[in-house]
Amino acid sequence: MDPRTEINSLLQEGAPVLFGALSPLGQRVYFPPDVPAQSAEARGKALNGTIGQITDGRGGAVPLPVLAAGLSGLSAEDLSRALLYSPVEGIPEVRQRWRAWQRRGVAADLPSSLPLVTGGLTHSLSILADLFGGEGRAVAIPRPFWGNYRQVFATRTGAEVKTAPAYVEGRYNTVAIAEALHGLPAGEPAVAILNLPSNPGGYSLTVAERGEVRQCLLDVAAVRPLVVICDDAYAGLVFEPGIPRESLFWDLIGAHPNLVPVKVDGGTKEFSFFGGRVGFLTFACAPESGVARALESKMKTLVRSTVGSPVATSQVLLLQALRAPGVEEQVEAVRALLEERYRALKKALAEVDPGLLTVLPSNSGCFALVEIPEKLGLTGEQVRRHLLEHHDTGLISVDPRYLRIAHCSVDAAALPELVRRMEQAVRELA
Ligand SMILES: Cc1ncc(COP(=O)(O)O)c(C=O)c1O
Repeated sequence: MDPRTEINSLLQEGAPVLFGALSPLGQRVYFPPDVPAQSAEARGKALNGTIGQITDGRGGAVPLPVLAAGLSGLSAEDLSRALLYSPVEGIPEVRQRWRAWQRRGVAADLPSSLPLVTGGLTHSLSILADLFGGEGRAVAIPRPFWGNYRQVFATRTGAEVKTAPAYVEGRYNTVAIAEALHGLPAGEPAVAILNLPSNPGGYSLTVAERGEVRQCLLDVAAVRPLVVICDDAYAGLVFEPGIPRESLFWDLIGAHPNLVPVKVDGGTKEFSFFGGRVGFLTFACAPESGVARALESKMKTLVRSTVGSPVATSQVLLLQALRAPGVEEQVEAVRALLEERYRALKKALAEVDPGLLTVLPSNSGCFALVEIPEKLGLTGEQVRRHLLEHHDTGLISVDPRYLRIAHCSVDAAALPELVRRMEQAVRELA
């Protein structure tokens, strides 16, 4: 059997719904037996003349002293790993330790693959767009949503973004995915993106809402194959007691044969490592399974054919954190810093004139969202420009009438003044 047929038949047998949802590109890709594959087979051999990277002849790096000085905190072994190519799928220890990090508190019997390393969450999403997007593929996203989803899925692959409101009458709309897909012929595969804690909303589901969203996804899966992408960029940044911190991904595993959950996460926000560009991509299958092997073959090819391999230096830095016994407390300290800002913002927003700004519910993440009442006849963009030009203040406008406040990047003490200016700007324009 040729390698592509072998890879595809592993999916046809082990994950037929997932296979049926693949784009033409997703069906085409498999990891060919060229340099990285042959080099991986030769790893550890006494004489290894496989790969075009400069080594000391024994598998170690040949660092320029100036680069070694910049990474002087690393052991000799990690320095070498940081300067040489990463395996295309990522450094094994990074993958294993990230998997253990993801699975804190998760039941042992829920299967999850060894996460594939990517160049950040955007890269993880673009790999998924390549695998499951494509001309005309419906991608359901509650709106407002992180605008880059449109570039990643619609602009790049021709998929069709379908939306429904994320908030109705001031509450999270737990059936938004079903509403967004309304009218799509039964049986046609679709993709859904759920980003919780959300950008731009700063919202995470309550226990009851989680149950409702899960039920909504099951109802959709009853009529079509549904790939559910859990974009967990802001995982763990939850500020209210009683709001679950765990990813919805774990609740969806094995929930319905037609439902394919995928987890997108990474060091960007979870480890406050924005410049590191280390993301991960995880499927709901056992690490050694045929399905995991086939998916890895496909994903690796999409990595290899775009960025060659993921950045080793950043992976080695993230590894220092993942190995450190006190890392959970350090991550918690960042969460606590953000909680202070969240509380300062919430307090200031509680006092705004509802005739000027409607505050949408938020309880987590990096943002809060306000809406300009329709009756004022203003767009978010008009208010944003006015704030820039007359109030020395920058916010993000989200169509049609939203303003997104990134409290994660403003000092807690300055947030009441920011809210005062926002209110003032709307008053001046209204
Ligand atoms: C919801 C969401 N997903 C993904 C990303 C992208 O993360 P990265 O910077 O790792 O590509 C962001 C970044 O703002 C985001 O808000």
